[in-house]
Amino acid sequence: MGKASYWVQSNALLRKNLTYQRRNKCQNCCLFVSPVVILFLLTVVEFYVKQSQNQQSEQSNPDFKPLNPVPNPPEWPPLIQVPSFPAVRSKALPFSDLPDASCLKNKSCPATFLITASNQSFGLGMASDMFPTLTSVNSSDIAELILGTKASLQDNYLSDPAFTEEIDLYYLQPKCKEGSFLSVPMKTKTFESICMQSLTLWRNSSSEVNDAIFEGNARVNTEKKPFDFAGAYDFLNSNSNIFNVTVWYQTNALPSTRGTSLTRVEQLVNLVSNAYLRFLNGAGTKILLEFIKDMPTHGYMNQPNFVAMMSTLLFIWIVVWLFPVILQALVYEKQHKLRMMMKMHGLGDQAYWTISYGYFAIVSAIYMLCFVAFGSILRLAFYTMNAYSIQFVFYFVYVNLQVSMAFLASTLFSNVKTAAVVGYLLVFVTGLLGNFLFVRVLQEPSFPRKWVIVLELFPGFSLFRGLYELQQYAFEGSVVGNGGMQWQDLNDPENGMKEVIIIMFVEWLVTLFLAYYADRALFSGSCMRKPSTSARKPSAQRNGTQVPSRRENPDVAEEMIGLTQPTSGTVFVNGLDLRTSMDEIYSMMGVCPQYDLLWETLTGREHLLFYGRLKNLGGAALKEAVEASLKNVNLFHGGVADKPAGKYSGGMKRRLSVAISLIGDPKVVYMDEPSTGLDPASRNNLWNVVRLAKRDRAIILTTHSMEEAEALCDRLGIFVDGSLQCIADARELKAQYGGSLVLTITTTPEHDAEVEDMVRYLSPTAHKTYHLAGTQKFELPKHDLRIADVFEAVEIAKTRLPIHAWGLADTSLEDIFIKVAMATASSSV
Ligand SMILES: *[C@@H]1O[C@H](CO)[C@@H](O)[C@H](O)[C@H]1NC(C)=O
Ligand SMILES: *[C@@H]1O[C@H](CO)[C@@H](O)[C@H](O)[C@H]1NC(C)=O
Ligand SMILES: *[C@@H]1O[C@H](CO)[C@@H](O)[C@H](O)[C@H]1NC(C)=O
Ligand SMILES: *[C@@H]1O[C@H](CO)[C@@H](O)[C@H](O)[C@H]1NC(C)=O
Repeated sequence: MGKASYWVQSNALLRKNLTYQRRNKCQNCCLFVSPVVILFLLTVVEFYVKQSQNQQSEQSNPDFKPLNPVPNPPEWPPLIQVPSFPAVRSKALPFSDLPDASCLKNKSCPATFLITASNQSFGLGMASDMFPTLTSVNSSDIAELILGTKASLQDNYLSDPAFTEEIDLYYLQPKCKEGSFLSVPMKTKTFESICMQSLTLWRNSSSEVNDAIFEGNARVNTEKKPFDFAGAYDFLNSNSNIFNVTVWYQTNALPSTRGTSLTRVEQLVNLVSNAYLRFLNGAGTKILLEFIKDMPTHGYMNQPNFVAMMSTLLFIWIVVWLFPVILQALVYEKQHKLRMMMKMHGLGDQAYWTISYGYFAIVSAIYMLCFVAFGSILRLAFYTMNAYSIQFVFYFVYVNLQVSMAFLASTLFSNVKTAAVVGYLLVFVTGLLGNFLFVRVLQEPSFPRKWVIVLELFPGFSLFRGLYELQQYAFEGSVVGNGGMQWQDLNDPENGMKEVIIIMFVEWLVTLFLAYYADRALFSGSCMRKPSTSARKPSAQRNGTQVPSRRENPDVAEEMIGLTQPTSGTVFVNGLDLRTSMDEIYSMMGVCPQYDLLWETLTGREHLLFYGRLKNLGGAALKEAVEASLKNVNLFHGGVADKPAGKYSGGMKRRLSVAISLIGDPKVVYMDEPSTGLDPASRNNLWNVVRLAKRDRAIILTTHSMEEAEALCDRLGIFVDGSLQCIADARELKAQYGGSLVLTITTTPEHDAEVEDMVRYLSPTAHKTYHLAGTQKFELPKHDLRIADVFEAVEIAKTRLPIHAWGLADTSLEDIFIKVAMATASSSV
């Protein structure tokens, strides 16, 4: 049959892992559903936060600036906000001077301005002069045009939708020919504008103006729409000496962005100023307002955004979440000595490493893929804005780093619970530290960049930095429209993505190397252990195996199952040296340790399939071997084989462990107290299995139970203080060490002396070992005594003395064991 190849081992381990993973339905569900749920919640929260921000007009954010620098803001001509819902004659506004509602249908409604002044003739004069008729329809000078738009202002004036989206551009004239339009040539391109009539209406007082605007704007009219005026002027006490004017201006901007809508006021003020200048200086005078332009600005942070902050925290938690999961799985196999068990059944280090590592890396990759795919489906800018190839590289490197970190960390823990607590704590702390501490460092320009890089050596922080950069670019992308993070952006000195990927890549290689060697150091130590030498009562049955020189390992005797290194000497199994050919030896041996080393969620059949594959069984042979061994240990019937091992009783677990040690026909099987803790019925069952198995192979059995040893062993050895005191078969041992019979006689106390005399007569060297109220125990050396003589003597004594009870017994193995142990102890003192 031979040693299983690397591929066979890998295949066996992979199949076992997949089955194990499939069994852990709950964990799988949690693992893949939690990011989905978190992302979904995030979307909902983001939606509602946006909504409430829009409603709270007072909490607008006039300080908003984009994040990237704008050294040269665009120049836009000043625009008047003309109403989307122009004021017409209606129930709310029953004024005869307003246009008829029919203009709404053919979209020819004018932009209406209300005028008032303390001196009516002054006010009307101003009004008629504010909107001059263009002398030539073909004006090349934009500044001569009075332009308006229905488009709402955005967050900032860098992108006025009237120009960037080319919507709703109008030029205002006192009279419009239907359908006339004008080309507006600007630096970048020429825009088309439609003619819109400007209508100025006199009102008697400031309060009338105010009321009209208020009533029109109320959404109580039948149309359920506002009726808006384009603007209003109150000239107050203005005359040729005083220019005192109040301007009402219209804005369609959302309440949250009203701060920026001041840019809709300039033209209104300019118009009235021009009119006043002409009133003072005559028709030729004009002030030309050519354009409005933002100040150049360096990019800087917007105010901390709750959603953005929370989302980075949640993202980092989602990604790091896998760490404790992997760590737990690894420590579980270590804690339950399953790794050792697999190794002892022939699983090589290489196969273990490639499959375990690859397995967790692929699970992580699938997990991250779900994370990105689901985020993209929800159209979160974090995913859709940035180049997917960058995200892929970033997550790929991180996931590998994380898996190798988990391998390295697993060498430090021996208990799953500790590992889980530490792992989850690390997840929690990493997220919080990153989100509330490290982010401050990143945003503080005076903090030395060198130290940022030093901090990023902690993988949690480098992950955070990467996510942070993706988040920043996504946010910028969705605001300014520069397309998120692309590969060329990695050269941006502000962008930490490149350094983070390099750091994580190097750390990955280093950690993997360390983890591999830490693991080897940890396990190669214990894989050189010799189960046989720790035995107290070994039994080797066939000559194919030489139980080797006796006294090589006195120090390891204290180990319960002997997972330790030989301190000196060596062992030959089937002619192979323990020190050099351990892997070959593993492939031809089976082990049944004292404690049941089983996966709780795998069934008996799955255990046997896995170990069978490790022993290079395959196809029909494997199936046969598994069924046969299930039948042998009486686990085949009643569906027991397909129940998870965690649900087995103690006896079933022991029997499964024995079956595992026997599968694949190993040449040597080591068993450590196979029937410990079993009820007599199960124990008998198990002994039968072992008796059947020992026909074709050597079984080395270590036990404290003399009964077990006597029932199963052909040769017995007794270890005291780790050194082998004797080795022989049971009868020889009894002959050598148990050369006496034990006679127990109970009589009335006054006849004690007569009984003793009788025994002395039988055997002068008899030795009294026990005496209490008429019951006495004697040891009679076998060589000067015939058993028949004893019976005869007692029969005779019965006629004279009242003998209540008597017994004669050969020495038991237990007595021999105690004797040997006592002898050694006293000789060593
Ligand atoms: C009102 O304004 C006109 C000029 O438009 C001026 O001639 C007239 O004197 C003013 N009336 C008063 C009462 O100031
Ligand atoms: C308008 O001006 C352009 C050049 O600025 C000229 O080509 C065109 O003929 C003019 N049209 C009218 C109607 O004056
Ligand atoms: C303005 O006042 C005049 C009289 O001073 C009056 O005739 C006119 O109806 C008033 N106009 C409005 C719109 O109330
Ligand atoms: C401008 O008008 C307001 C309101 O009528 C008035 O209180 C203020 O004194 C006027 N300013 C001047 C300089 O006349």
